[in-house]
Amino acid sequence: MSIVEVAKKRYATKKFDASKQISDSDFTQIKTLLRLSPSSINSQPWHFIIADSATGKQRLAKGTEGAYSANHPKILAASHVVLFCAKTDITDEYLQYITDQEDKDGRFSNPEGKAMALKVRGFYSDLHRKEWHDVRCWTEKQVYLNIGNLLLGAGALGVDAVPIEGVDLEVLNQEFDLANKGLTAVAIVALGYQSDEDFNAKLPKSRLPEEVLFTHL
Ligand SMILES: Cc1cc2nc3c(=O)[nH]c(=O)nc-3n(C[C@H](O)[C@H](O)[C@H](O)COP(=O)(O)O)c2cc1C
Repeated sequence: MSIVEVAKKRYATKKFDASKQISDSDFTQIKTLLRLSPSSINSQPWHFIIADSATGKQRLAKGTEGAYSANHPKILAASHVVLFCAKTDITDEYLQYITDQEDKDGRFSNPEGKAMALKVRGFYSDLHRKEWHDVRCWTEKQVYLNIGNLLLGAGALGVDAVPIEGVDLEVLNQEFDLANKGLTAVAIVALGYQSDEDFNAKLPKSRLPEEVLFTHL
């Protein structure tokens, strides 16, 4: 399937078939997609909490009680559920850590290259840390990019998914003690296989017309 066909076929799954599980090999590929997502300055300012057991999904579903209850059954019936978390701070130590990782992964041919990479990271991070004071917004943007990457990738694997913003993030922050880990919950993606009863699978896609979206220069 071409990438455009995948984009046309994937859709926000509203009802999963609880009897169908994503295979280990497919979920390994999904984890690879999560790891390989691009991010500004390769900051990778994320962590993923993954549930594939009933008890794990119950814990994540605590975020979809009350006002968000429409999303509750999606989490419980999905095969795997991923809670996307963003780092709440980007410290100098963390910039050193990711630069050291790049070094281990063979990205620098000399120490000057490594020093330059660290300097560039510091420059962009300082814009967010010291001028714009929007580090958390910045890290969450990277997480959303990862979510987009995952949605298309899951579609390419034939795995259905729904991104879920309709969740009480504070409940999940508490449940997983995220503040003490330097993280905040951002959104959930539930993955699995559509139920035959999923009304949304039969509906046509709706998007704004091209002339509204594109300006060609
Ligand atoms: C960031 C984000 C959050 C979303 N949150 C929810 C949600 O809480 N529950 C839900 O059923 N769908 C949710 N959706 C699905 C959107 O409604 C859906 O992507 C949109 O209507 C376009 O339809 P399509 O994905 O089927 O093409 C979300 C989508 C995105 C991208």
